[in-house]
Amino acid sequence: MSDTVLTLDNIHVRFPLNRNWRGHPRAWAHALNGVDLTVRRGETLGVVGESGCGKTTLAQVLLSLQQPTQGQLRWSQKNGRPNVQIVFQDPQSSLDPRLPVWKIITEPSYVKGQSAEAAMRAHAARLAEQVGLAPQSLKRYPHEFSGGQRQRIAIARALASSPDVIVLDEPTSALDISVQAQIINLLFSLQRDHQLTYILISHNVSVIRHMSNRIAVMYLGQIVELGETATVLAQRRHPYTRMLLDAVPVLGTPLPDTDVAAIPELPGNRVLPQGCFFLDRCAYRKQGCEQRQSLTSVPSGTSAHYVRCHRFDHDEFDGK
Ligand SMILES: Nc1ncnc2c1ncn2[C@@H]1O[C@H](COP(=O)(O)OP(=O)(O)O)[C@@H](O)[C@H]1O
Ligand code: SF4
Ligand SMILES: [Mg+2]
Repeated sequence: MSDTVLTLDNIHVRFPLNRNWRGHPRAWAHALNGVDLTVRRGETLGVVGESGCGKTTLAQVLLSLQQPTQGQLRWSQKNGRPNVQIVFQDPQSSLDPRLPVWKIITEPSYVKGQSAEAAMRAHAARLAEQVGLAPQSLKRYPHEFSGGQRQRIAIARALASSPDVIVLDEPTSALDISVQAQIINLLFSLQRDHQLTYILISHNVSVIRHMSNRIAVMYLGQIVELGETATVLAQRRHPYTRMLLDAVPVLGTPLPDTDVAAIPELPGNRVLPQGCFFLDRCAYRKQGCEQRQSLTSVPSGTSAHYVRCHRFDHDEFDGK
């Protein structure tokens, strides 16, 4: 049995939109609508879905930057929650331009009174080496680095406090293809050396496929399919997973920058559908789809596999 790091239990998040004169919201954006998930120690869990499906909101919940409107987040650590850090998509905007790199890197691990500057610099130098940055470059400022190097700085900063879990929110989306591969390789080796758990969030199916042990497919603030990467990719039991994967090239091709946001528009999240959330885009809809669907365990060999669709039986789809 693998060790569980954290459990999300029916997590909901909604954001108030245009308020009336009393300050009461007239409408809500329903960003997360019942996310259930267990993350295992040492795994890379890929979270994939179109722009607007709630990936960043989920990251914010994991970092305790966003309080769920409903539901529970439980860290399976005896002494409170484990250390969780984040690496953002755009290292340009997530690194303070006024600070030299050694300060940026050591900021999260800075403990008042305890850390003399020399010790912090030495810590920064060790981290720089781990992420492939020249130690003599640490006195420079973020704008003096390339995009790939800035992402290395962001990764070093995430590592500084020896985290258990790192949330990677679109970590390579802002980078050139050749640099993407280098950053992915770095993330792999750091995971091995530090026994890290990654929650890898991306709209890029290729990156997710390349890096993840398991995949969670998200649609309109819910997980619609969850399982081992190979199983989910081969079986594509949820019609949305099919749609998503049909939009990207076949297995074995090198990492292209495929963007699933290119497929037809995600419906609004102001008013949630009555029945299955995917109903109005689904090519396989049938009687029973007007009911809300729950994430259900499906028979799938030895590994756990969950699908939110009563028509999860693959064969049935071919005759529609
Ligand atoms: N602070 C906010 N205020 C209002 N709506 C928000 C806020 N943050 C996110 N949303 C909405 O929540 C939904 C999910 O957004 P997000 O989590 O950023 O999705 P993703 O990262 O998958 O693109 C979107 O409809 C977005 O507009
Ligand atoms: S429940 Fe029906 S509408 Fe929803 S994904 Fe399954 S087949 Fe499509
Ligand atoms: Mg996002």
